[in-house]
Amino acid sequence: MNSKILDLYKCVNCDSQLKDNIEKEVLECTNCSSEYPIINKVPAFCYNALNNNITAKAFSEQWTHYKNGEYEEDEVFGLKASDYLEHFCYAFNIKNIHDFEGTILEVGVGSGHLINVLAQNAPKATIIGMDISDNIFKLSNIMSKYPNVFLIQGDLLNPPIKKFSIKYIYSSGVIHHTKSVYGSIKSLWGLLKDNNGQLYFWIYPSYQYCAYDRLRNMLGKPYLFKERTRYILSKILAPFLWVYFFITKKYSYKISLESLKTVSFRIFDNISPEFQHRVSKEEIKEYCEKLNITNYTIKNDLGVLCIKDKDE
Ligand SMILES: C[S@@+](CC[C@H](N)C(=O)[O-])C[C@H]1O[C@@H](n2cnc3c(N)ncnc32)[C@H](O)[C@@H]1O
Repeated sequence: MNSKILDLYKCVNCDSQLKDNIEKEVLECTNCSSEYPIINKVPAFCYNALNNNITAKAFSEQWTHYKNGEYEEDEVFGLKASDYLEHFCYAFNIKNIHDFEGTILEVGVGSGHLINVLAQNAPKATIIGMDISDNIFKLSNIMSKYPNVFLIQGDLLNPPIKKFSIKYIYSSGVIHHTKSVYGSIKSLWGLLKDNNGQLYFWIYPSYQYCAYDRLRNMLGKPYLFKERTRYILSKILAPFLWVYFFITKKYSYKISLESLKTVSFRIFDNISPEFQHRVSKEEIKEYCEKLNITNYTIKNDLGVLCIKDKDE
């Protein structure tokens, strides 16, 4: 393992430095007895979550369906790789991505669309991709061709990354799926470097009408349904929702009608995770005040860029 990258990681049980045990194919803690298996070149910091965390299991299933071509093909949530890159540049006000330097941590990489396109367009940056789902192990084959990309399986609420070590953190559509939005912002904010470290996250707004949200509420606790039931529901309900969008033009925070495949994928995405928080701009303000984040900007609905000033 690259020693500079290993220096950024820490034991999630006692916060101590890790070392690489090549023979055993684990990262081991230099202080306590914790060991983290390296699966397909990806250190796994919360492997048990894949069996006992509803969110980790749900997203593992979701990305497996996606990879099998059962929903969208080149797009993810109706977005192309270039849209992902554009949004990343918009988030951090980047003019020239090709000269972009520093360590970027993408939290909740999902399909890997963003890190893939970032790796191609920001060769001077060091890119770490983290996700709780098992898709992260499958991304290793695609990402191994980029020397500046490193993947880890981990939980953002207990990240295996040292405090004050990352320059840019980007997390889109992720923190509303954790048990605590405030806890997530606090955790990620703590990882940022002091001087001009930047955290951008995009989260569901609570103030926009969303048909997916209503559907989820109508179903009660759909995340408790069997995986097959959720999959079938996503296929059966998609045409009805698509016709509804077509007629009403209320696209659920999109500006145009999405394809049937995207609507179907979004249904699975909405009914599967255990947590699906939605927040208001007032709540963001409240969280930032509590965390003493003085320099923050709300970008559209609902992206937030938080910047660490020197004296914070
Ligand atoms: C809705 S997907 C978004 C994926 C990607 N950011 C995108 O915009 O396409 C949410 C992702 O966050 C990951 N995730 C959810 N909770 C997480 C946690 N506590 N720690 C790390 N990743 C998490 C899920 O596994 C999933 O891949």
